[in-house]
Parts: sequence; structure tokens; C-alpha cells
Amino acid sequence: MSGTFITFEGPEGAGKTSVLRAIVERLAPLLDDQLVLTREPGGKGSPVAEAIRDLVLDPNLPSMDAWTEALLYAASRRQHLVDTVLPALAEDKVVISDRYLDSSIAYQGGGRNLGVDAITTINRFATNGVMPTATVYLDIRPEVGLRRIQEHRQDEVNRLDVEALSFHQRVADAYHQLAEQSPERFLIINAEQDLATVISDTWTALMPILGIQD
Ligand SMILES: Nc1ncnc2c1ncn2[C@@H]1O[C@H](COP(=O)(O)OP(=O)(O)OP(=O)(O)O)[C@@H](O)[C@H]1O
Ligand SMILES: [Mg+2]
Repeated sequence: MSGTFITFEGPEGAGKTSVLRAIVERLAPLLDDQLVLTREPGGKGSPVAEAIRDLVLDPNLPSMDAWTEALLYAASRRQHLVDTVLPALAEDKVVISDRYLDSSIAYQGGGRNLGVDAITTINRFATNGVMPTATVYLDIRPEVGLRRIQEHRQDEVNRLDVEALSFHQRVADAYHQLAEQSPERFLIINAEQDLATVISDTWTALMPILGIQD
């Protein structure tokens, strides 16, 4: 793997999608066709992964077993890696993904209480150990993120959005544990600041990793 693989992580409403969009806008002219933007579950250029996404986020399937859900996320991740991420990295591109493996560890391992170790094992199998070069972690108290979503968002609510606050607190706790374990990979950004400041902090943190002088 020779390219650069950047992932964005954080609780619901942390600003992952908003910040990533702004960063990509600034990066696109600099990197041109060397930049690949994608997201999980599912992902750009991966119809199989997208089909699994539709299944796993379907609010009409509340009976899905938690382990089934964890395995589907891992399966979708595998397919997205093979179709999109690995080919781009082999071409020395920069791949930026809205969520990756840490989301499974936080949501299924922490949120759903399946255990961080078990979810890590499933995902190591699915990814063959492919880890991001760096992970932007948008750090926010879950209640602040959820409030933002309730205030602003119009789109459909998915199964994870409707979980109790205690679920989202376990997600945040698991993320913090991951960040503590891998300080060399995690770029922790205070996401409770105004959006422009969060974007600018993220840009400053990413530039050395991308080898770009600002
Ligand atoms: N720093 C911020 N201050 C205030 N509002 C923000 C900030 N960042 C994002 N928002 C708003 O909060 C809402 C959620 O942001 P966004 O969708 O980017 O979060 P997300 O982390 O991608 O959420 P999800 O996990 O649900 O995908 C949006 O309406 C966005 O405009
Ligand atoms: Mg988002």
C-alpha cells in the first residue's frame, strides 16, 4: 500500500460529512484525480457494498440480530476495500473515507456491547489488517452531536439515530479508548467549536500527513 488513507470518525452529528466536504473542496484543486472521496457503509464504486448498506441501515428491519449487523458492516467494508480503496492506494492516490473500521468497533463493540475485542477480530479478518494512515477524530459529547442533528437535519432517520443516549455515550467511550491506544494514528479535533474553526483545525492537522505546505 503506497497511497494515503485518511478516515473521518466521530459520533453522530460531530460534523464528519460537513468538515470532509470543506476539506475536499480545498484539496481537490491540489490533488486533482489523485483524490478519492468515499464513505461507509457502502462506498463509491462498490455496488455490492452499497446493497449491504441499504440492508444494514433499513429502519424497517428492527429485528436484525446485533451480530448479523456487525458481520454485514464488516462484509460491506471488505467489498469496498477490494473495489475502491486498495486499487486507489496501489495507484498512490489519497483516499478519504467518511467512517471506516473504528466506527464498527465504537458502534457494535461499544454501543451494542458486543465487545471491542470480538469486533476487532471480525474486522481484522475482513480487512486483512488494512488500517488508515491517519484518522481525523471529531471529538464531541454525544448529546451535543445529537442535538445538532435534531436541529438541522431533514433526511431520513436510520436505525442507529434512534438509539438511546446511553448507546451513543458507549460509542464515544469506545472511540476515546481507540484514540488512546493509537495516538500516532488519531488526529483529535475539538468538534464542539464553530464549523469554520473545526475545518481549519482539521486542515492544519492533515497538511503534514498529505505533505502539503500551506
Ligand atoms: N461545528 C459545528 N457547529 C454547528 N453545527 C454544525 C457543526 N458541524 C456540523 N454542524 C451541523 O450539524 C449537523 C450534522 O453535521 P454532519 O452531518 O456533518 O455530521 P456527521 O458527523 O456527518 O453526522 P452523521 O454521523 O449523522 O453522519 C449538520 O446540520 C451540520 O450543518
Ligand atoms: Mg455524516
